Amino acid sequence: MEIDSLHLEDDARQVFLAAPAAEPERQYYFMEQLHRMVGARAEAGDTVLTYQVETFGCQMNFRDSEKMAGILLASGFTEENGKHPDLVLINTCTVRENADERVYGHLGYLKKQKERNPEMVVVLCGCMMQEPHVVETLKKSYGFVDLVFGTHNIYKLAELLFLMYSGRKWQLMHPVKKNGKYRVRHEMLIDIAADADLIVEELPDERKYPFKASVDITYGCDNFCTYCIVPYVRGRERSRRPEDILSEIRKLASLGVTEIMLLGQNVNSYGKQFEGVTFYGLLQEIEKIDGIHRIRFMTPHPKDFPDELIDVIAASDKICHHIHLPLQSGSTEIIRRMNRHYTKESYLDLVRRIREKIPDAAITTDIIVGFPGETEEDFLDTLDVVRKAGFNGAYMFEYSKRTGTPAATMPDQVPEAVVKERFARLMETVQEAARKDLGDLTGSVQEVLVEEVDPDRAEGVTGRLTYNTLVHFPAPEGKNPEELIGSYLPVRLVENCGFYYIGVVA
Ligand code: 5AD
Ligand code: SF4
Repeated sequence: MEIDSLHLEDDARQVFLAAPAAEPERQYYFMEQLHRMVGARAEAGDTVLTYQVETFGCQMNFRDSEKMAGILLASGFTEENGKHPDLVLINTCTVRENADERVYGHLGYLKKQKERNPEMVVVLCGCMMQEPHVVETLKKSYGFVDLVFGTHNIYKLAELLFLMYSGRKWQLMHPVKKNGKYRVRHEMLIDIAADADLIVEELPDERKYPFKASVDITYGCDNFCTYCIVPYVRGRERSRRPEDILSEIRKLASLGVTEIMLLGQNVNSYGKQFEGVTFYGLLQEIEKIDGIHRIRFMTPHPKDFPDELIDVIAASDKICHHIHLPLQSGSTEIIRRMNRHYTKESYLDLVRRIREKIPDAAITTDIIVGFPGETEEDFLDTLDVVRKAGFNGAYMFEYSKRTGTPAATMPDQVPEAVVKERFARLMETVQEAARKDLGDLTGSVQEVLVEEVDPDRAEGVTGRLTYNTLVHFPAPEGKNPEELIGSYLPVRLVENCGFYYIGVVA
């Protein structure tokens, strides 16, 4: 960003130019500056600034939001769950068109709020912002947005907020109202990087749960599935250094976290850029960390799921017996056109290899219906794989055209009515297969990690099996449901309700 284009007042400019160049020191410097500004405002008799973070999309985005919440807290803001935050940050997703539509819908609502409360700051970031046409639309039709950045500069939130608020510094430093309202000098500050320059470690974060945590292992994606926007909006694949990941997990364990979810667009390609580093090797190291009881990961790609990984999971009593293995399509020809590098047969063979060594493995999947050129025969192959693989669950999506991806310009886009009809048949087949599979556990006693108080049942709690399946059960006599959160309990599964169980503590 060119400093001259920012029109900073002299003192803000001086502060900006004095910032250290190295990260993360630079960001801590800006957090301190913001902290001072927020404090000065409070001293002048105004309220402490509050924030609200809203997150769309996948677990990576939720993890990014935890990091941004950490930066906001370290900058002196407090969280606000009510209706009147001073700053709203929306972390966007663009994986399918309806994700975009939800963000625009939400912006419509925020526009009305901002008309009533012009000093409220609206920040947009994340995947959708990496698409140039989105930024153009924002400039044209959503001029009330204050700050826009993408996926690559999330670590710079404090610096960007400093710059944005410096344009509005009078508001922070001298909260003077005119006719009952603050005067707002408004300019949309936009900072989008085409690709990531560096991985910044050791920034603050605010984790949502005290007992479980997500940990990024790779960023970006190099697979270029032809339907998928992710490689364009999250950039090239980069792995975090094993020692950074391990020290983060050790720290989490020391804080009481017992379940770790490792995140990457393709976890099996973890470590490619380092000598002798593999994903299953990383898993073995994580297993050694005291206090970690459950290890999950998301998402492996079926094209490279080595036997060593299956062996490591089979031999472990910490790595969960749940594998999310996106199929996308069961037709070898469609898989080829999706650029996914496996076949119907090799996918089923992988499922067989997994079940051979991990007989109780729960396998879930993602399936796209209506990829361009998908014929009835192709679709029947998908149903066939669903029946043969016996998925415990599937996320199903109608194909959504994403501008800039190769599939968007492929011929033979499937008519909507056909997609809808196939989707309904797929859903039925998935449910049938899941019902059959899940039935097996009824009557058994399983370990459950209690995650929350059951919102629908008095004195009840909700937890998860190693298979990721939800279980609802009553808190034992005399136990406060709240106090059970984060504990592992043996639970007898008494009723199979399709995608969840009802149980009793054994
Ligand atoms: N249309 C429909 N579904 C998609 N997904 C990714 N891109 C698209 C698209 N263009 C689905 C895939 C992926 C999941 C996260 O989202 O199934 O695994
Ligand atoms: Fe959405 Fe994909 Fe970005 Fe996740 S990586 S937020 S699913 S676009």
